[in-house]
Amino acid sequence: MGAEKDNMSRIPQELLENPEIAALADEAEKRIFGSGDLDELERARIWLLGRKGVVTILLSEVRGLPPEVRPQAGRLRNLLKKTVEGWLELRRSELEKAALHAGLEGEFHDLTLPGRYIPRGREHLVTRTIKEIEDIFVGLGYEIAEGPEVELEYYNFTALNTPEDHPSRSLTDTLYVAGPDGRVGDVLLRCHTSPVQVRVMESRRPPLFVISPGKAYRRDVPDASHSPMFHQVEGFAVDEDITFADLKGTLESFCRIMFGEDRRVRFRPHFFPFTEPSAEVDVSCIICGGEGCRLCKSTGWLEILGCGMIDPNVFGYVGYDPEEFSGFAFGMGVERIAMLKYRIPDIRMLFENDLRFMRQF
Ligand code: DAH
Repeated sequence: MGAEKDNMSRIPQELLENPEIAALADEAEKRIFGSGDLDELERARIWLLGRKGVVTILLSEVRGLPPEVRPQAGRLRNLLKKTVEGWLELRRSELEKAALHAGLEGEFHDLTLPGRYIPRGREHLVTRTIKEIEDIFVGLGYEIAEGPEVELEYYNFTALNTPEDHPSRSLTDTLYVAGPDGRVGDVLLRCHTSPVQVRVMESRRPPLFVISPGKAYRRDVPDASHSPMFHQVEGFAVDEDITFADLKGTLESFCRIMFGEDRRVRFRPHFFPFTEPSAEVDVSCIICGGEGCRLCKSTGWLEILGCGMIDPNVFGYVGYDPEEFSGFAFGMGVERIAMLKYRIPDIRMLFENDLRFMRQF
């Protein structure tokens, strides 16, 4: 390729004016453009610019020259170096291009062959369910917030108005994280996503319309309906004049979008430490529609989530005045919702990663 260059010299005129430099430039040009492959080119580079290369030495000698010739000699030798570097770069790209072309010519491409099958993955059902829930609430104007899975007792229990002697605080229910000394203290794996409520509220002011999806952990032995790790979506709204009617309207529309337009929804009184009043929400059974079947244990209803009006004590922990603001909160189990919606009989199926199971969704 470039090796058979026309007679026009590549050597800059200024270098030709110094016979010693001109001879060196001539030799460099021959070696560089005469090299037939990258190895040979690399040898030429080392001969010129290596630690003991001829150009390197020429440049290092400049300092020892008499002051009156130093500037001119320095400029010339630098020009030589720049010139040689340019040639090396040019020749390298020529050789690389040639190597690529040679490689392609040696190959035969049958363009009629069918493409290779690349298996397509898909989202895990839990991920998909979380996204479905998120989409519904984002459509209602909510934003998404996240919080840590390794949490402080304060956020997980105390600021959520959970009494000091509440059973859920015990070592048999909640997974505590041991410190360096092997003792457990106030650090734990959150047992619900509700602590995110506190974290968001203490760092911001209403109006707040927030949902928070994530993992939660409990000290449960796995069975058909329990898993020590599972997912929840927490939600809450705080503003002036938020009422229980807002809570009902919000969750009724959520349930109908999630489970079908003709679902009936009911609110059953319940108790949670962080809400007052509290309720559990049921939807009419997605299988029998309310007649009674095995899934709903003949009740006609399926429990979907817990909710209530945020307890004024919780507002106290985050510095909100309960006279100024009110709010509702709710929390739902993602696996439970996915299991009901897709009639999955055992929560463990969601975590065994058996492709024959996962592919169905
Ligand atoms: N944190 C509760 C649980 O894990 C669920 C829950 C109930 C969340 C009522 C709420 C709520 O925000 O208001 O069982």
